[in-house]
Amino acid sequence: MKVFEANISLLGADFLAKKLSNFSVLESANELLQFTTGIKSFFSYKSELIELKEKLSISLYSVKEPDREEYGDFQTNRLLANKITNRIHEQGINPEIIIEPTCGKGNFIVASLNNFSGIKQIIGIEIYKPYVWETKFSILDFFLKNPKCSKPTIEIFHYNVFDFDFKNFSNLVINNNLLIIGNPPWVTNSQLGSLNSNNLPKKSNFKNLNGLDAMTGKANFDIAEYITLSLFEAFQCINGHLALLIKNSVVKNIVFDQKAKQYRIGSIEKHCIDSKKEFNVSVESSLLFCKLNSSPEFECREYNFYNKEMSLCFGWVKNKFVSNTATYLHTQSIEGICPLEWRQGIKHDCSTVMELERTNGHYWNNLKENVVIEDELVFGLLKSSDLKNTVINETRKYTIVTQSKVGQETNYIKHQFPETYKYLYKHLSVFQSRKSSIYKGKPLFSIFGIGDYSFKLYKVAISGLYKTFHFTLVLPQKDKPVMLDDTCYFIGFENIEYAVYAIILLNSPQTEDFLRSITFPDAKRVFTKDILMRINLLKLALNCSKQYIEEQLKYINDKYSLNLDLKLWDNFIKELTPMKEKQMTLFGH
Ligand SMILES: C[S@@+](CC[C@H](N)C(=O)[O-])C[C@H]1O[C@@H](n2cnc3c(N)ncnc32)[C@H](O)[C@@H]1O
Repeated sequence: MKVFEANISLLGADFLAKKLSNFSVLESANELLQFTTGIKSFFSYKSELIELKEKLSISLYSVKEPDREEYGDFQTNRLLANKITNRIHEQGINPEIIIEPTCGKGNFIVASLNNFSGIKQIIGIEIYKPYVWETKFSILDFFLKNPKCSKPTIEIFHYNVFDFDFKNFSNLVINNNLLIIGNPPWVTNSQLGSLNSNNLPKKSNFKNLNGLDAMTGKANFDIAEYITLSLFEAFQCINGHLALLIKNSVVKNIVFDQKAKQYRIGSIEKHCIDSKKEFNVSVESSLLFCKLNSSPEFECREYNFYNKEMSLCFGWVKNKFVSNTATYLHTQSIEGICPLEWRQGIKHDCSTVMELERTNGHYWNNLKENVVIEDELVFGLLKSSDLKNTVINETRKYTIVTQSKVGQETNYIKHQFPETYKYLYKHLSVFQSRKSSIYKGKPLFSIFGIGDYSFKLYKVAISGLYKTFHFTLVLPQKDKPVMLDDTCYFIGFENIEYAVYAIILLNSPQTEDFLRSITFPDAKRVFTKDILMRINLLKLALNCSKQYIEEQLKYINDKYSLNLDLKLWDNFIKELTPMKEKQMTLFGH
C-alpha cells in the first residue's frame, strides 16, 4: 500500500497508525521514531505528522508512478542490494558511516542495516519526496522486525545531490570508517537535454572539453559519472570504500580519467552484473568497488559478480590504456601511431533526403519520392551493416555529396547541377531542423566528415559499431569512389595494391589480438579513430612474414578474381615510413 506516494508495509502502517494516534506534538513524535528507528527528524514539519495521520486513518490509496525518466530511476531490488552489502561484509569491511548519495526507496540502507553491525551513522539523499518517505518507512519496518538491533543516527535528506555539500560533511567524519554505497541515476546529459530537464550539475562541462568536443558526442556524460567523481573528490582523505552500481562505460571512463586526475582510489574492482535480470535494461552495468584514501591506482580487476571469478584486468600499462593488461603484453609490438590517418565517414543527419536507393534505374529517397537529379554529386554509400564481406564493389545505397571539404560554399550546386539544387531546396526545412549545433551558421546542405580523403578510389574500412574484428576493402563503383557513413572509419589509397596490402595486414591475427587487448566490447563504439590510430601499420608490415602476405594475396586474388602481385610492396613500406626515418636510411644510419 502507499502513503505519500511511497510504499509502506502493513506492519509499518499499522505501527504508525496506532502509535501516532496519541501524538500531536512534532518533537514527541520525532523522539518516538528516533527511539524506534534511529532516524533524526522523521517529520520535518508538524503538517507532515498531521497529514500522515490523516492518510493512515482514511483508506490508503495507490497512485500511478509518474514518469521519472529524467531521474534515471532504476531502483536496486532488495535481493541484489542485500547480496552486495553481504559481499562487502565478507571482505571484512564493517563501516561506521554509510552514505547513500541518491537513496531512492532505501534498499541499500536497509541492506546495510541487515549486514553491518557497527554502523553509527547513515546519511541518505534523495530528490523525490515519495522515496524519502519510502526509505523512512522501510527503516521503520526494519526496526519493528529487529527491535534489538542497535540504532545508528540516520538522516534522510530530501535534497538535490548536486547541491549537497559532501566536502563539508567529509570534514566531520575524518577518523571514521566510511562506506559510500548506492546506485546513482542512469541518465546522460544529452537524454536530459532532449527531455528539457535540468537535473544536471551546474558545471556540465566538468571534463573541461574544448568547444568542438563539447559540441559533439565527447561531451555526453552520465550524471552517475559526475556524482562518482564528486564523491572521490570530497572523500579522498577519508578511510573507507565506495561501492556504486554504474554503467560499464562509466567504470571505464573513471579508470581512463584516473591517469590525468589521479584520484586517491585503489584496489579498483568492477563486478559485472546481469542488468537485464536485475533492472530489465539492456545497458551493461557493474558494481564499482574501490578503496578511498589510497595512493592512486590505474588498473581495474574485473569479476563476475555472481560466481566471483576474475575475468581480466584493464587500465593503464605505462602510458597506454588497454582493455586486457595480460594479453596486451603479448600484442603491444604493433602499438604506435598509424602513419596514415584514419577518417570517419560522412555525417549529414538528414538520411530521409540525402540517402537514396536505386531501383529500375531510378533513385528513391526515404520519403518514397522518385529523385531525378544529375549523377555528378551522387556516390555509392556504405553503412556499418554493409561491411560484412572482405571486398565490396557494389553498394545498396547512394548519397548526395554536397561539398568536397567542410565549410565549402554550396551555391555552386545551383549553377552546375540545377536539378540537384531544386531537390535539396525543396527539402530545405529538413536540413534546417537538424538538431546538432555543428550545422549552425554553415552553408546550406552542409555535411561533415568530408575532404580530399573521401575521394580516394580505394578504401579499407571498418564499422565502429560492430564487434567484428574485420576490415573491408571498398572498391570504386563505376569509376567513382564509394563513401562511408559516419558509423564507419577508413583509410584511403590511390592504388588497389596498397589497399590490398593494408587489408591483409589489418585482417591478420596479430592485428586482431592487438585490437582485442585495447578495445572494450561493451562500448557504444568498439572502434574509434583513437583506437585505429594506435595500429602502427609500418611495424605491422615489418613484423608480418612475407609468406603470410603471399598466401593471403593469393587467397584474395582467387576469391575475388583479382590479379595483384607484391611488386609494389617496397614502395608501400616507403610510403608508410615517416620522413625522418626515410632520411636516416638514406644517410646510412
Ligand atoms: C538508479 S536509482 C537508484 C536508487 C537507489 N540508490 C537504489 O539503489 O535503489 C537513482 C535514484 O536517484 C534519484 N535522483 C535522481 N536525480 C537526483 C538528484 N539530482 N538528487 C538526488 N537524487 C536524485 C532518483 O530519484 C532515484 O531514486
